[in-house]
Formats: sequence, structure tokens, C-alpha cells
Amino acid sequence: MPLPKAELHLHIEGTLEPELAFELAERNGVKLPYADTDELREAYRFEGLQSFLNLYYELMAVLRTERDFEDLANAYLARAAAQGVRHAEIFFDPQAHTSRGVGMDTVVEGLWRALGSSEDNHGVSTQLILCFLRDESAELALETLESARPYLDRIVGVGLDSAEVGHPPVKFREVYEAAAALGLRRVAHAGEEGPPEYITQALDVLGVKRVDHGLRCMEDPALVERLVRDRIPLTVCPLSNVRLRAVDTLADHPLPAMLDAGLLCTVNSDDPAYFGGYAGDNFHAVRDALGLSKDRLRALARNSFVASFLEHDEERRQRYLAEVEAYAFP
Ligand code: ADE
Ligand code: ZN
Repeated sequence: MPLPKAELHLHIEGTLEPELAFELAERNGVKLPYADTDELREAYRFEGLQSFLNLYYELMAVLRTERDFEDLANAYLARAAAQGVRHAEIFFDPQAHTSRGVGMDTVVEGLWRALGSSEDNHGVSTQLILCFLRDESAELALETLESARPYLDRIVGVGLDSAEVGHPPVKFREVYEAAAALGLRRVAHAGEEGPPEYITQALDVLGVKRVDHGLRCMEDPALVERLVRDRIPLTVCPLSNVRLRAVDTLADHPLPAMLDAGLLCTVNSDDPAYFGGYAGDNFHAVRDALGLSKDRLRALARNSFVASFLEHDEERRQRYLAEVEAYAFP
């Protein structure tokens, strides 16, 4: 039995496995510029975030109908459940679909067909986080939030993703204010490739209470001190960091130093179909490469539930935490 955990940094579009991409391409009459899954996998060598994003957006062409989004989410939930995920807070990128003529309704209704029954079908509780594409305009982000209004009962919060450098959090002040007024929780990718100042901006300007990645905080001791003091969780994605060259190898990953500093880190998969593994795979990878003890692994699992947006259901959070404490490592 795997260690129970919450997944807090997971882009649903990043769970599109090559096999499903080809199946959906066939179903929708979309021609992919790859002969087969082997040739597609050959393209999974990334120089950095942008080279990954190019492929990530290209493959989304196969996602067209509610059923496609449902199948995508169900495939993820089955894999996540098998790796001990008990609760998943799932990002989606509506602008990457609406820009192709696929409506917000198709995306949310399709995802919800899987998420709405996930506890019964997979034993995984779920929440949805709507992400704005930071390399698109602030106006488009506001329009996107507006078009999500009919679905806000299914969306717990907003996030900020896509190409980070040159697109600082401050660009999205207004839409985050609007999201806060709607009672939405706020997170943002910051300090993945961008500088530590982007993390500070995400906290000060966007009012985020949880930071996605946050790796580069380690370059700024005063920022680390603040993140520790204010118990700001960081959703760290080790395999992603290697594949996107934020770190040279897993053995060089700052996760142990981050934990030593007292940061509230969690371990997540980001875009597992592209980066070589799901949540459990990331736990195993850091255990093996960084020699993390069972106590540290248990602390990471505990952190994942502490950092999750379960304020409306503290009883559930406590139940999950009890599962972590009771877990017997093999
Ligand atoms: N979109 C999907 N994965 C991402 C990542 N790791 N960083 C920024 N945007 C993303
Ligand atoms: Zn991400």
C-alpha cells in the first residue's frame, strides 16, 4: 500500500499520456505531427519551460469534447489513486482551450463528469483550480474569470501558470483582486524559472497563501525566513525540475535544504505524462536520489494535507492526516 498523500500541483492537461493523445486524435480526426507514440516520446527532451510548453499546448489539439476531458481526468485519477493520492487539487488551463474554440462549458462539464464521482469511483476527493496563462494579457485573464462565473461552485481557486520570466505576478493584480472578492483561493507559480522577487510579488500583490514551485526562494534568505514564519506552503515538483532543467540532477535538488530550513514543502508531479512520473513516482524518486528518511517522507505526506484547501472540511483533513500517521512503511 502506498503512502497516503494529497497532490496539490497537477495540471490536468499535463496528464495526457501519448497513448491517450493518439486515441483522442483518432476519435476527433485530428492529425498529430508524430508517426506514433514512440516518435512522440522522442520529443520529450526539454531545454527549459518554454520548450515543454510548446509541446504541451500542441498536444491539447486532441481535446475537443466533454468526453475527452472526462476520459483525461478519469485516466489521471485512476493512476493517482494507485499511487496513494487521497485528495487532488487539480489545475486546468481554460484559455488553452477557449483560444481553440473549445468552450469553458465543455472543459468544466467534461472534467466534472469525472471529478464529481471521483470519490466513489477512485477514492480520491478533488478540487479544481482555474489557471490564467501569464504570457497572455491581463484583460484575457479577467474575461476568463468572468466566463467561469457559472461554474464557481466547482472551482476552489485561481492560479497562474505558463511562461514565467517576463510575466511578473504584478501584471495580474486586478484579476486576483476580483478572484478574492469572489471568495476564491489564490495560488501562483513563482520562482520556477523566475527570480525570488516574483515569489515576493505573488505574496504581496496577489495575496497568495500557497506558492507553486517556489524553488528559487533559496537564493533569498530573508524570503525563506518569511515563508517559514508565515507557514506558506511550497508545492515542489522534483521530476519536473529535472526535466525542465531547473536543477541538473535529482541528487542536486534543494528539497532537503528546503526542509532543513523549515519550509513547508510538498511533493507533486506537475505534468506527470511529460516528466516521468505521478505523485508516488516523485516520492520514490526523491527517496532514492536524496536518501530521504521515512520520517521525512511521512512529513512530506503530512504537509500535503496541511497545505491543502480543505478548510471547509476539517474533519476530512484530520481523517487523511490520521491515515498518514498510521501508515506502516514496507
Ligand atoms: N503549465 C503546465 N506546467 C507548467 C509549469 N511547470 N510551469 C508553468 N506553467 C505550466
Ligand atoms: Zn505547474
